[in-house]
Amino acid sequence: MQKKKNNKKSAAFLNKGNSRYDRHDSYYRRAKKDGYVARSIYKLEEIDDALKLVKRGDCVLDLGCAPGSWLQYVVHKVGSDKGAVVGIDLLEVALAFGKHVKIIQGDAFEIDPHELRPSHASEDATGPYFDVVLSDMAPNTTGIKSVDQDRSLALCEHALYLAVKMLKPGGNFCVKILEGGGIQNYVKIARNAFDTVKIKRPKGTRVGSMETYVVGLNLKPGIDPDTLW
Ligand SMILES: C[S@@+](CC[C@H](N)C(=O)[O-])C[C@H]1O[C@@H](n2cnc3c(N)ncnc32)[C@H](O)[C@@H]1O
Repeated sequence: MQKKKNNKKSAAFLNKGNSRYDRHDSYYRRAKKDGYVARSIYKLEEIDDALKLVKRGDCVLDLGCAPGSWLQYVVHKVGSDKGAVVGIDLLEVALAFGKHVKIIQGDAFEIDPHELRPSHASEDATGPYFDVVLSDMAPNTTGIKSVDQDRSLALCEHALYLAVKMLKPGGNFCVKILEGGGIQNYVKIARNAFDTVKIKRPKGTRVGSMETYVVGLNLKPGIDPDTLW
């Protein structure tokens, strides 16, 4: 009996890279209790509370949306009367939402941006449709810092491209990025597109994790996504 208990405990404490961390930490347990499918919800909630990214009635694009805790948060926040949400991920999302939520299983690099239009937009609509673009996309990590940073940066650059292309002027953007790996240049470029750019490392970020979030507020009008870099 005692042995079983110890095994259970050691399974929850995993070695990830160089840092030992508790996979089933208080955020994990809180998410389970609150009915969220991932602990990442609390990172978005903290950023949103501080910087007011999302409001009722907004149209939100969520890049890298699986398993779906950010979707759960934004779907509730925008409401179903005027609000709408589109999510895309390589993986399937095993959650059911209303008609105002469209979830695509696909690659954000490959998808024709027109396919990302919200469910209320007609086939011939051209947008821009979104008030908020979120990206929590993360590559499969290799453990090789420079490779992981390069892959993460490529995802962030594409997220910024899609944000500038698909946000309405005045729209907001939030993207997960790994510290180091070109973050300063990334922020500089984001500043060309948004009135305000902030870096936030929410409390829910695991100790030892390299991840942080870049937030762009108020997309400037007339920015061409093809000439950002
Ligand atoms: C940390 S998870 C996102 C968690 C999510 N925000 C939530 O709260 O449930 C990162 C996701 O990025 C997705 N991803 C990575 N590369 C992608 C790509 N090229 N296109 C779409 N999704 C991608 C992964 O499949 C993974 O599900």
